[in-house]
Amino acid sequence: MTKPLNVLIVGTGMYVCGRGTGGLGTVLPTVAQAQRDGMVGEMLIAATSDASIAQLEEKATQLRERLDAPVQLHAHVVGANGTSYQDLVQMLRQPACAIVVVPDHLHAQIGLELIEANCPVLMVKPLTPTLAEAGQLVDALEERQLYGAVEFHKRFDEANLLLRQTIRDGRLGVLRYINVTFSQRRSIRDTFHAWIDQTNIFQYLGVHYADLIHFLTGALPQRVMATGQPRGVASVSQYDAIQATIEWYVPDTQHTFLSTIATHWIDPDMSSAMSDQKITVVGTEGRYESDQKRRGVQLVTQRNGIEEVNPYFNQIYAGAAGGMGIAGYGPKSIRQFLGDVCGLAAGTTDLATLQRHRPTFQQALVSSAVIDAVRQSVLQDECWIPVKVPQRDMSSMVGQGVAQ
Ligand SMILES: NC(=O)c1ccc[n+]([C@@H]2O[C@H](COP(=O)([O-])OP(=O)(O)OC[C@H]3O[C@@H](n4cnc5c(N)ncnc54)[C@H](O)[C@@H]3O)[C@@H](O)[C@H]2O)c1
Repeated sequence: MTKPLNVLIVGTGMYVCGRGTGGLGTVLPTVAQAQRDGMVGEMLIAATSDASIAQLEEKATQLRERLDAPVQLHAHVVGANGTSYQDLVQMLRQPACAIVVVPDHLHAQIGLELIEANCPVLMVKPLTPTLAEAGQLVDALEERQLYGAVEFHKRFDEANLLLRQTIRDGRLGVLRYINVTFSQRRSIRDTFHAWIDQTNIFQYLGVHYADLIHFLTGALPQRVMATGQPRGVASVSQYDAIQATIEWYVPDTQHTFLSTIATHWIDPDMSSAMSDQKITVVGTEGRYESDQKRRGVQLVTQRNGIEEVNPYFNQIYAGAAGGMGIAGYGPKSIRQFLGDVCGLAAGTTDLATLQRHRPTFQQALVSSAVIDAVRQSVLQDECWIPVKVPQRDMSSMVGQGVAQ
């Protein structure tokens, strides 16, 4: 029996505990469940104010009832009495790790502080908005031989894993193009009002598919061109919509293909789900289409009208064997990280293995390079921006897909 893992969660917002929504988020229920199962020991949460802690406690109370579990956590205000991230890491017994769920522009700074405290990190996407910052995080990790991964949960969605296998088996032939459309309800902009000026719609949504295309095909981006439609103010963060064309090449075969990823956050609030997302992959021998919103489950109620429910992302329900729990590809990706950190501590896995099979910081250089280039293209009259992902441990990145 390995020692329980002690976890620091940085952030108390929507993705942690469902703040500002009727739900309970993804990170807190997943770690709480791992605590109930004995995999996790202490849970420490870094917040920015006493008011955030009060909101977190409210959600934690609801979660205790829903999971019928004690859910033990301690929340601290970072910066209060000079408390730093290093201090919080030092409060945790080993083995320990951190899950960072804060606005994108803080990922590099907080990630570096945690790495300097020798703490393995799971960053909720994107790794960083720029390639330069992503490189700094990778350098810091490699210097300490630490583990860092990004919570790219689409890699754990079975519809995408089947697509990857279909490509690997050559059933689509030589890849020609991939089309993605991904949008959210307009109310999402209110959720992020505190930091909306520090992100943009492609960085927020498009990054998921920039990573997924790399994961599916093993291809690397070589140039990017993006267009966008401003909403009054001509700042990229204020654009209603951004469409990117990315040219990829497959190192093993030197073949190239194109992807287009169109993103927006102006869906009407009465649309039947928060996210609308579809991917189509076309090759010389076939086509794979995946509607990632319409999973075949529709709920119609007098109160909320028609809702398209995704049963596979992050739902809390009683399992067939009884007992409430959170299930889906979101929790699965977080649980994978927790298990991997336990495995590293117990010596049952190693960094080289994880490097090949996980969304590590090194692999996330690809998605950070794409979002960085998309922003530059929009700012530079929508011109093509060449992309060169630094040759890190590229052995882990090539040859994992066999797109031709
Ligand atoms: N993977 C996904 O599907 C998904 C979904 C939503 C959000 N996200 C990502 O998660 C991150 C956070 O998003 P969110 O939806 O929870 O946002 P949010 O605005 O609801 O919450 C952000 C949280 O960060 C806290 N924070 C701000 N500065 C901090 C600091 N210096 N130290 C500690 N905490 C700080 C805020 O107080 C707040 O609790 C973003 O990077 C976002 O892109 C991912």
